[in-house]
Amino acid sequence: MVDIKVLDKIIKETISAIEKSQEQIYAIAESATIEYQNVKKDLEKVKNQIAKVIKEVDLLQLEERKARLRLVEVRRDFRRFSEEDIKAAYENAQLIQINLVKLREEEKTLRFKRDHLELSLRRLKETAQRAEQLVSQVGVALQFLGHDLNGLSEKLGDLHDMQQLGLSIIRAQEEERKRVAREIHDGPAQSMANIVMRAEFCLKLLEMNPGMVKGELISLQQLVRQSLNDVRKIIFDLRPMVLDDLGLFPAIKRYVEEYKNQFNINVELVLLGSERRFETSLEVAVFRIIQEALTNIRKHAKAQHVVIKLELITTRINVYIKDNGCGFDIETTKPKSDGSGYGLVGMRERIQLLKGAMTISSAPGKGTEISFWIPTDN
Ligand SMILES: Nc1ncnc2c1ncn2[C@@H]1O[C@H](COP(=O)(O)OP(=O)(O)OP(=O)(O)O)[C@@H](O)[C@H]1O
Ligand SMILES: [Mg+2]
Repeated sequence: MVDIKVLDKIIKETISAIEKSQEQIYAIAESATIEYQNVKKDLEKVKNQIAKVIKEVDLLQLEERKARLRLVEVRRDFRRFSEEDIKAAYENAQLIQINLVKLREEEKTLRFKRDHLELSLRRLKETAQRAEQLVSQVGVALQFLGHDLNGLSEKLGDLHDMQQLGLSIIRAQEEERKRVAREIHDGPAQSMANIVMRAEFCLKLLEMNPGMVKGELISLQQLVRQSLNDVRKIIFDLRPMVLDDLGLFPAIKRYVEEYKNQFNINVELVLLGSERRFETSLEVAVFRIIQEALTNIRKHAKAQHVVIKLELITTRINVYIKDNGCGFDIETTKPKSDGSGYGLVGMRERIQLLKGAMTISSAPGKGTEISFWIPTDN
């Protein structure tokens, strides 16, 4: 069996771990976006710088051409130009060339920087997009865990309870079948074997001493009547037909009447509220519980007086059963290894199954009180 508490813990931890990573992903998305804006600004700046440098290079190239022409001119016509002039032209051309080399170098560096910035810009955009995607995917996962799995342990718990309940229902059914088989075996089956023997005896008497047959037939008739009664009682215990035909109040009234006559125990039955019909499972449950309580009183309590109160109100049935018998210790009473002692357990299970509740109070020498209620609207 899965340990439900462990499962619950795992789900909660998973949810909190995912929530934490969701926060981290948010942070990544946010910083990627900020970084993206900064890089974009830098890139603009570098592009402007490049444009400026290109302009400067163009200008300088023009100046360089002019300087070179000047140099050619002063060299060719050295009668018109002094040595000073030649030197100045030479130095000017050289200076311009140096500047040009510097500027070209600067342009190269700026282009390299631009390419690099463009690449980071593309990467940052991808990161931000992917982080946003992840955030929404994680959101979906969280929703699933939060809504669909949070109730899982509860569902598993319910399932476990239902399984246990199913098992005890099967066990109760088997017990019931054993009990019915025993009753038929001890009662009607034996009487009938007896009847067959008596009938054979009558046949023989008819030949040997016909005068005795009448008396014998009368006792045979009584025997048949007795076993018919036994069979009726077994059928009544199995499924009181009045319950199906007339409902809870008449079925309980009839059962209590029979019980009083048969066992000589005084039962005071109080029925409150206007009689109405309920789900079969509910009517059978209430009937069976009262039946089991009365059987326990007959078997164990040695009581002279029993009070049963049955109250029907709008939303539920309240039942109270009290005897003045010997009572028992609830704490130490447990089902026995011979398969008996499931009466009280069965009562409780039936009530639980119908979402009601039961309390038993009893103590040796103090009698026993059982009260339970079952909701009528589910
Ligand atoms: N009204 C009562 N008065 C005194 N003792 C009781 C009463 N009801 C139950 N008990 C005690 O509680 C025990 C458990 O009752 P429960 O109905 O569960 O089992 P059981 O009657 O012994 O067997 P089963 O009902 O399975 O045939 C009984 O054996 C008896 O000792
Ligand atoms: Mg019992």
